[in-house]
Amino acid sequence: MSEPQIFPVPQDWARRAYADENAYRKMYEASIDNPEGFWREHGQRIDWIKPYTKVKNVSYDKGDLHIRWFEDGTLNASANCIDRHLAHRADKVAIIWEGDEPTDDKKITYRELHEEVCKFANVLKAQGIKKGDRVTIYMPMIPEAAYAMLACARIGAVHSVVFGGFSPDSLAGRIEDCASNCVITADEGVRGGRKIPLKANTDKALEKCPDVKSVIVVKRTGGDVAMKDGRDVWYEEAKAKVGADCPPEEMNAEDPLFILYTSGSTGKPKGVMHTTGGYMVYTSMTHHYVFDYHDDDVYWCTADVGWVTGHSYILYGPLANGATTLMFEGVPTYPSPSRSWEVCDKHGVNIFYTAPTALRALMREGEGPVKKTSRKSLRLLGSVGEPINPEAWLWYYNVVGEGRCPIVDTWWQTETGGILISPLPGATALKPGSATLPFFGIKPVLVDNEGKELEGATQGNLCIADSWPGQMRTVYGDHQRFIDTYFSQFPGKYFTGDGCRRDEDGYYWITGRVDDVLNVSGHRMGTAEVESALVAHAKVAEAAVVGYPHDIKGQGIYAYVTLNVGEEPSEELRKELVQWVRSEIGPIASPDLIQWAPGLPKTRSGKIMRRILRKIAENDFSNLGDTSTLADPGVVNDLIDNRQNKS
Ligand code: WTA
Repeated sequence: MSEPQIFPVPQDWARRAYADENAYRKMYEASIDNPEGFWREHGQRIDWIKPYTKVKNVSYDKGDLHIRWFEDGTLNASANCIDRHLAHRADKVAIIWEGDEPTDDKKITYRELHEEVCKFANVLKAQGIKKGDRVTIYMPMIPEAAYAMLACARIGAVHSVVFGGFSPDSLAGRIEDCASNCVITADEGVRGGRKIPLKANTDKALEKCPDVKSVIVVKRTGGDVAMKDGRDVWYEEAKAKVGADCPPEEMNAEDPLFILYTSGSTGKPKGVMHTTGGYMVYTSMTHHYVFDYHDDDVYWCTADVGWVTGHSYILYGPLANGATTLMFEGVPTYPSPSRSWEVCDKHGVNIFYTAPTALRALMREGEGPVKKTSRKSLRLLGSVGEPINPEAWLWYYNVVGEGRCPIVDTWWQTETGGILISPLPGATALKPGSATLPFFGIKPVLVDNEGKELEGATQGNLCIADSWPGQMRTVYGDHQRFIDTYFSQFPGKYFTGDGCRRDEDGYYWITGRVDDVLNVSGHRMGTAEVESALVAHAKVAEAAVVGYPHDIKGQGIYAYVTLNVGEEPSEELRKELVQWVRSEIGPIASPDLIQWAPGLPKTRSGKIMRRILRKIAENDFSNLGDTSTLADPGVVNDLIDNRQNKS
């Protein structure tokens, strides 16, 4: 492998940043040598109602697994995001909202945010929602989504945001799993000029969820929607009946703040549960250092609030730091592929944080759409969600940033709450494609498949040796699944599910998932979920799903499908199955390629040999390994002959 190019820290960055190389090293060492002392100090960066005296109480022991931070402190997350800024920043813009149409935008100050959130909280109370209740939020990217989340936090209700691209079935599953009895939605969403029928989807989902007692509907488009008497209320009408005074509920540090469902290698999505104190400390601190956020910066994270990136780095982290955070309703290619950069120019964005898949899609359009914009406000660029290939990194750096802006390639997960491995812009020399070095308090370890710790430059399974405040606390309603998923394979460590290489400089290079989780356009998708959707179709006998390299999406979804006896493969059926998966899970789960497989390669004990299926999908069958243990070695040749990815 050729030596990667190294981009040293620019002088002006080393001077003005919160941490230069020396400071990073010192703080990092302190955080590892004495985690208790380090977090005792940095836990104070947020406001506590009752200060904590205890800092860390963690055991990764399978028999007594618990993770507690600042456990005797009390606070309120919404007060940290809003109230504490009122004294000095009441008129500062908290949220810049940019609508789907370039003519549609809005600025919300901290004072206005306070009023909106208090009113929303009072609407929730009027609906009978109280501390500890789970509230499902199924919303487009409009300010009310942020108000709703913060309103839940204000009254101590636990929000579960479901991405607006998920199907009614997926929504229903998530509502049922956490026994939520209130849903907040909108009439319709708008993205890239197209409407998304959120309320109609909600109605469909709720046919399966009779326990939902109230649905709060925000008007976005004014489209025609059905309202069910006694269950559904228009937000605007409910808001007109409540006051703007709502004191924040005093919450324990370990009270749940939110649940967010994410895909794993087996079974249905897990409700990742985050609590209040540690999460607020960790997201605000990472936002501060990784993005080097200064008070006048305009910061834009392009994620959707339906994903963890939206939770931690559109909402909680930035607002805890009194930032101006931009929330974008649309897509980067509408009305034209210049849109992202036009938005940067329009609002003077200084820090821009996006996913490699978006960059690859824009790259395909050439430099023209970028070059016709100024982008002179940009100072720092960020990447998240999947490995960024060096070509996309260099394009981002040279074309978008004109060689002027460092790139922070941030590695983390829904489970980790915040960024664990990333450069700090004033401290870390960059290598395209590497997430570089761990954040304060994070101790990555690479282990082989037997769990042996590997030293020096090496490659292995990425684990984290100890806890950090932003770590998830449990799988909602299933603590055993939490233990089994993350702490069983390599006892005593948190296992991330990612493979990783460490180079001679101690830099980390994430190589992708080592389990059956796909990363499609930066979104996590369990192969098992897609398989179970496929076999739910009346004509399908069996299905096996694997990932394959995809130019834009990073990974595409490749499905091998065995039809029931008597069913004939056809183009029509292929389309029908794609449509079926879209409606079962959502558009992000659409198979890109379907191969009709008369049989699947199985061991004599009936286990599908995914390794072989992966190789065929990757169009690489030079090294299929030992196929002699297969029950019927002949099926492999048939699969190779009829492979769908011949590129
Ligand atoms: C992948 C998104 C390489 C990784 C915040 C992880 C990355 C999964 C990066 C989590 C990155 C995320 N480089 N891979 N910078 N960031 N990943 O839960 O495989 O949606 O395990 O969280 O995305 O996805 P999740």
